[in-house]
Amino acid sequence: MEQYVIKGGKPLTGEVTIGGAKNAALGILAAAVMADETVTLDNLPDVRDINVMLQAIEEIGAKVERVDKHVVKINGSNITSVSIEYEYMRKIRASYYLLGALLGKYKAAQVSLPGGCDIGSRPIDQHIKGFRMLGANVNVDQGVIDAKADKLTGSHIYLDMVTVGATINIMLAACLAEGKTIIENAAKEPHIVDVANFLNSMGANIKGAGTDVIRIRGVERLHGSEYSIVPDMIEAGTFMVAAAATKGDVLIKNVIPKHLEATTAKLTEVGAKVEEYDDAVRVCATGRLGNTHIKTLPYPGFPTDMQPQITTLLALSEGTSIVTESIFENRFRYVDELSRMGATITVEGNSAIVNGVQGFKGAAISAPDLRAGAALVIAGLVAEGITQIDQIEYIQRGYEDFEEKIRNLGATIERMDVEDEKSLKKFKLKVG
Ligand code: EPZ
Repeated sequence: MEQYVIKGGKPLTGEVTIGGAKNAALGILAAAVMADETVTLDNLPDVRDINVMLQAIEEIGAKVERVDKHVVKINGSNITSVSIEYEYMRKIRASYYLLGALLGKYKAAQVSLPGGCDIGSRPIDQHIKGFRMLGANVNVDQGVIDAKADKLTGSHIYLDMVTVGATINIMLAACLAEGKTIIENAAKEPHIVDVANFLNSMGANIKGAGTDVIRIRGVERLHGSEYSIVPDMIEAGTFMVAAAATKGDVLIKNVIPKHLEATTAKLTEVGAKVEEYDDAVRVCATGRLGNTHIKTLPYPGFPTDMQPQITTLLALSEGTSIVTESIFENRFRYVDELSRMGATITVEGNSAIVNGVQGFKGAAISAPDLRAGAALVIAGLVAEGITQIDQIEYIQRGYEDFEEKIRNLGATIERMDVEDEKSLKKFKLKVG
C-alpha cells in the first residue's frame, strides 16, 4: 500500500493543467459501446476508475485500443456478453452505466447490484424505475440486476430526487427506445451535458441536457464518433481550494470557468482572489481567510464532491462556518483525521460546525475516500511539519498524477510504500 508524505508550509505557486472529467468519461465509455463502429475519445483522464471501466468493456468483447494515456479507440461491434462481472461493480459503481447502455443496445443486461460505499448507501432505485418505465423487466436476485425487454418504448419519467447516475443511465437506454422519453427533475451537472453531447455526436436525439427536463427521441442505431471529454470541474476546484488554503498563487488551465462558479463564489466570499479567463482561472490568497456557510446541492449549487476540500480550508479560516451535506449521508468521515491535525470541527447529523484554527500540525492520517483524500492532502500542504497519508489508492481513482502536479507547484510531496522506512527516513533528512 502506498502513502503520500508531505512537508507542509509552502504556498502553491505556478501553473497546473486540468484533465478530462472522470465522471463524464465513465458515462461516455459506457455509451461508446452502443455503436457498432469505432469511437475515438480524447482528453480521457488516466485514472484508476477509467482503467477499470475500460477493462469491463473489453471483458464483454468490445475492442479497446489505447492510442496513448489520454486517447482511446473503442468498437462495440463484437460484444459477446451483456453480463458485467461483480469484480468491476465492486471496484467502480459507475459500471452500472453499462446496464443502461447494454439494455438500450441489446435489450438485455446483467450487472451486480452496487453495494453502499464510503459516503453513503447510494441505492439505485431511480435507475430501475426508469428502465421499468421504458418497458424493461428488471429483477434483482442474489445481488444481480437482470434487465430484459422485448422492446423499449419512450416514457415520461419523473425522478423522485435529482440523481446524476439515474439521469445518465436512463438517457443511455432511452436514446435507442422507440418514441419519445422525457426525464423530469433531471440532474444538470456538466458531465450530464457531456454524455448527452457525446450521444448526439453518435446520432442520438437528446435535447435539454443541463436543464431539469431532458427530451429524448429514440433512434434506430448509433454510429461512430470522435469526441473530447469536458475538463474536470472537481479536479479544478480541488486545485483552486489548495491554492487558496496554502496562500499561494496558481493559474489553473484547461477549465470552463462557468462550471466552477459555486467554488469561485465561496472562495471570493472568504477573501481569496479569483480571476477568470476564457479557459483558465487564477486563484491567490495572502492573509488569513474568513468564514462562510456551505450547503451542498445538485449543480449549479455547491458540489458535494468539493465539500471535504472547502471544509478543510474553512477549518483554517477566521471564525465559525457551518457545512451542510445534503446529498450523501456519510461524507464527514475525514473530520476525525483533520482533528488529529488540530482542527476543531463538530459533526451534528448532516452538518459540520467548523471553528477555524490558526494552523494544523502534521500527523499520520488515512484517506477514507476519493475527495476526502484530496482534502487531507490540502491539510498536509498547510500543516506544520510532516504529514503521512495512507490509503492513497482512493485518491488515485480520480486524480491523475496528483503528487506530480502538486510538486510542480512548489510543494514537498513524495509517494512511497508505507513499509518503506528507508525512503521515509531519507525524506525526513532531506526536508529537515
Ligand atoms: C455521481 O454519483 C458521482 N459519481 C459522484 O462523484 C457525485 O458525488 C454524485 O454524482 C453527486 O454529484 C459519478 O459520476 C461516477 P447521485 P451518483 O445518483 O450518480 C440518491 C466522486 O467523488 N439516489 O446523483 O451515485 C443517492 O443515494 C463521486 O467522483 C437514490 O436514492 O450520485 C444520493 O443520496 C462520489 N436513488 C443522491 O441520490 C437512486 O436511484 C445523489 O446520488 C440514485 C441516487
